[in-house]
Amino acid sequence: MMTTDASDALVFFGATGDLAYKQIFPALQSMVRHGQLNVPVIGVAGRSWTSDQLRAHARQSLTEHGGVDEAAFAQLAPRLTYVGGDYHAPETYQRLRQALGSAQRPLHYLAIPPSLFATVIEGLQQSGCATNARVVIEKPFGRDLASAQALNQVLTGVFPEDAIFRIDHYLGKEPVQNLLYFRFANAFLEPIWNRDYVASMQITMAENFGVADRGKFYEEAGAIRDVVQNHLLQVAALLTMEPPQAGEPDARRDAKAQVIKAMQPLRPADVVRGQYAGYRQVDGVAPDSQVETYAAVKLSIASPRWEGVPIAIRAGKCLPVTCTEVLVELKSPPVDVFGEAEPPQTNYYRFRLSPDVVIALGVRVKTPGEALVGEHTELHAHHAPGDEMPPYERLLRDAMHGDQSLFAREDMVEAAWRVVDPILGAPTPLYPYAPNTWGPPEANALITNGGWHNPEIDHPQNH
Ligand code: BG6
Repeated sequence: MMTTDASDALVFFGATGDLAYKQIFPALQSMVRHGQLNVPVIGVAGRSWTSDQLRAHARQSLTEHGGVDEAAFAQLAPRLTYVGGDYHAPETYQRLRQALGSAQRPLHYLAIPPSLFATVIEGLQQSGCATNARVVIEKPFGRDLASAQALNQVLTGVFPEDAIFRIDHYLGKEPVQNLLYFRFANAFLEPIWNRDYVASMQITMAENFGVADRGKFYEEAGAIRDVVQNHLLQVAALLTMEPPQAGEPDARRDAKAQVIKAMQPLRPADVVRGQYAGYRQVDGVAPDSQVETYAAVKLSIASPRWEGVPIAIRAGKCLPVTCTEVLVELKSPPVDVFGEAEPPQTNYYRFRLSPDVVIALGVRVKTPGEALVGEHTELHAHHAPGDEMPPYERLLRDAMHGDQSLFAREDMVEAAWRVVDPILGAPTPLYPYAPNTWGPPEANALITNGGWHNPEIDHPQNH
């Protein structure tokens, strides 16, 4: 198969699940609206539903997540078909093969628990549904390095690497892509983007809500597996990668993989784990659970560019705001020319990735008056959210066209597991924290440079 041939059917496993409800149906409707979806769409799941039930479910999902666009839905609904059946039963895949009709190059999206990946992949292979097909795998890709390698073996035993799409929806986010663009489309950044000028980096992914109805899933994940190993190490990679080789196929993923490989495995002393009070009462959570809902880590990169620059990353549920923000602090000028009484705040770059998009440069300017004293201000670029393409739409569209540039590659997934592997499985203490606080104070010890920067939100978003 030519890698650029568009897929001629879209199959999604987990059609009655949470991810489909919140993300996939809205993405499908949006794809139709943008003229990007004109193939049959088949939902597969265990329940014995009819196709009409799937359509009603899709409408309900859209009502709750983004709204029904009647014109687009009228085109989407007749394309939707449902195939119900046990994922372990060969008949399920035979029915899928029938439902695919004349489609020759389907895309199979596995929006299902990782424990079912191998079963479904085998079912697809034995029924012939995998022939000339592409497969999209939801994160987490494995639970640790060993299981990720085993999963990759199963996948590559059935699909060639150019047909495998490991989705990390952070990579489909407009402001995350903008990090890459901002770094390499501007000339002023590259000369200072290194250990000579950068004092430290911080990445905070704060969410002001708990695990809600995902207790069972979260018990198997925890913050490190759920968002640090994937979303946040990817963001760190975009901030620290070398310039991609222009014109080389896959150059961006090569550069990203290279820097993830240079990230040093985290030691227990580099991590502080926390759990919000009330987590153990969530449905599906063990009464003595040791799973972290907050993790802060201190990462280092062994490369000529970043040697010695601390990169602090933290993520947590039930924090005071919902916001993902990056702060890159620069070193002070070599000489203190003005001898100001208060040590001036150093320069920094601040990238807010959500809920709104901000790029800010923290600078000193002179305070009007006789004395040569200054104050801190920010030069600011701000995009209101709204006009960007939702990540699932962008990524599904790219996968349908065989474009892997925004998907994780096997070597980077494994390299990222190598980074977090030593701190998985609760080898470190778990500190409690109260909801609506910035996590356990023990995390302050991970940071020497001026402490954690807590993003401020004018209008906290409530989920
Ligand atoms: C998911 C995690 O991958 O990302 C969730 O499983 C997290 O726990 C979510 O809430 C955050 O993504 P977004 O796009 O809502 O910021």
